[in-house]
Amino acid sequence: MLSETSLSKSDLIYPLFVVEGENVRKEISSMPNQFQLSVDNILRECDELSRLGIRSILLFGIPREKDEVGSAAYADNGIIQQALRSIKKAFPEIVVVTDVCLCEYTSHGHCGVVESGNVDNDATLALLAKEALSHAQNGADIIAPSDMMDGRVQAIRKALDDGGFADIPIMAYSAKYSSAFYGPFREAAESAPQFGDRKSYQMDPANSDEALREIALDIAEGADIVMVKPALSYLDIVRRASEEFNIPIAAYNVSGEYSMLMAAAANGWLDRDRTMLEVLTSIKRAGADLIITYFAKDAARIL
Ligand code: PBG
Repeated sequence: MLSETSLSKSDLIYPLFVVEGENVRKEISSMPNQFQLSVDNILRECDELSRLGIRSILLFGIPREKDEVGSAAYADNGIIQQALRSIKKAFPEIVVVTDVCLCEYTSHGHCGVVESGNVDNDATLALLAKEALSHAQNGADIIAPSDMMDGRVQAIRKALDDGGFADIPIMAYSAKYSSAFYGPFREAAESAPQFGDRKSYQMDPANSDEALREIALDIAEGADIVMVKPALSYLDIVRRASEEFNIPIAAYNVSGEYSMLMAAAANGWLDRDRTMLEVLTSIKRAGADLIITYFAKDAARIL
């Protein structure tokens, strides 16, 4: 009766990794119980999610071929495009959020176009806009740019509006830190940078005022939902953002946060379910409205 925070299934978004092929269900070794799935198996997954009461998924695509400019990210027969068409046909009620970024599609693994060894922010914007528009054309319900290029929300908003998708919202990864907690994801998405790191475009973990400036910029450019990522080491940012801005806040309980807990639970050092619920509740308590988490299904079974 006196509990101040309640967690519900409708707060949770479940990330899924789509790969080419048929009947692929390949476990990600650094993320127990999470899989790279081909489209047919993604549909099975959606069926299970529906039955569990999870209403929303976040899709990451792993293409067969990568190149310098991430062409597979905006190809009509790209993996995300194929997945979107199949999912929206079979499960129109599932809210499909798509990750818009180039790192899964580029041979160098960076989130943007590389010119003489550096990521070229402005040259990247047109490609991200093209990718976002292609997702919308194939049925995406929410576009989630995770690249952290400056100005990408505005570029994507314009491309969506001009393309007839004025009503498709943008969930911007606004305060995305350059974090070691993404390690397992990079195995899952096969997206580790082949040289250097992402510090020229992702944020310094030491900064929090900067996070608020990044969020304010994204809102001004047209973001409808803003995200803080990772979640756990950044709950102070979630709190500051939720106090400062009257807009839905999402927090991403990232791969490393998931794998840490799974590893401890596998060793019998932590009670998985209790710890998981405590973690998710703390993210909500800090001020998040939405939580992207690999624990979505496990939490739904309990909630
Ligand atoms: C792509 C992207 C990353 C994550 C989500 N989108 C990795 C990165 O920026 O290196 C991380 C998600 C996770 O760790 O669960 N830019």
